[in-house]
Amino acid sequence: MNAITVNVEALPELTDLRELFVQDAPIELEIGIGKGTFLLRQAKAHPERNFLGIEWANKFYKYAADRMARWGLTNVRVMRDDAKHFVVHRLAENCLDALHIYHPDPWPKKRHHRRRLIQPAFIQAAVRAMKPGARLAIQTDHAEYFEQIREVTLGAEGLAQTEWVDENFGIVGEDIKTNFEIKYEREGRTFYRLAFLCDKCAK
Ligand SMILES: C[S@@+](CC[C@H](N)C(=O)[O-])C[C@H]1O[C@@H](n2cnc3c(N)ncnc32)[C@H](O)[C@@H]1O
Repeated sequence: MNAITVNVEALPELTDLRELFVQDAPIELEIGIGKGTFLLRQAKAHPERNFLGIEWANKFYKYAADRMARWGLTNVRVMRDDAKHFVVHRLAENCLDALHIYHPDPWPKKRHHRRRLIQPAFIQAAVRAMKPGARLAIQTDHAEYFEQIREVTLGAEGLAQTEWVDENFGIVGEDIKTNFEIKYEREGRTFYRLAFLCDKCAK
């Protein structure tokens, strides 16, 4: 489509994300970027960092890619793929400095819960892909999914809970909001948040 987009089919089986960017710099991954509001603002605010967004829905992927391309940024890339599959099967070890997951699809019906992103195998793979000291931030408006997220993440090997606000990393909140956050804030919904630092031993 344009210089911003990454064709997952053309990537090596095990993907070291550094190959996608012009500058050798910390890499932040956002899963489920929607219209790309958070990713774009972060990329503009932090030219010294690299940002990759993965989005499954073609409509949002194209919208976000066009939007990024208009800014001529070189530190942001977007890719259309199932992020769960990409993280579990394709992402190289120790390549992420931050992982952002904001308002993952809650799949509220019990029979659909297995489709949820945040499951033990995914978190294990995410920790494998994170560098020691990397940050994981998760925000949802769905109380019941949040309980599952808590169960899966608190006590997960390699993750130590930390404060939501960390000046070393951008997060959603006061300054930068995602589209769903803006929409749900208007509806007065509660947000549930968890942040972690990767405390696994460096290899
Ligand atoms: C509820 S929306 C939230 C979008 C954005 N994060 C926000 O807060 O505005 C969830 C997004 O995740 C995307 N998504 C869901 N499952 C995905 C997956 N397995 N891989 C990539 N994107 C996914 C959906 O297409 C949708 O755009």
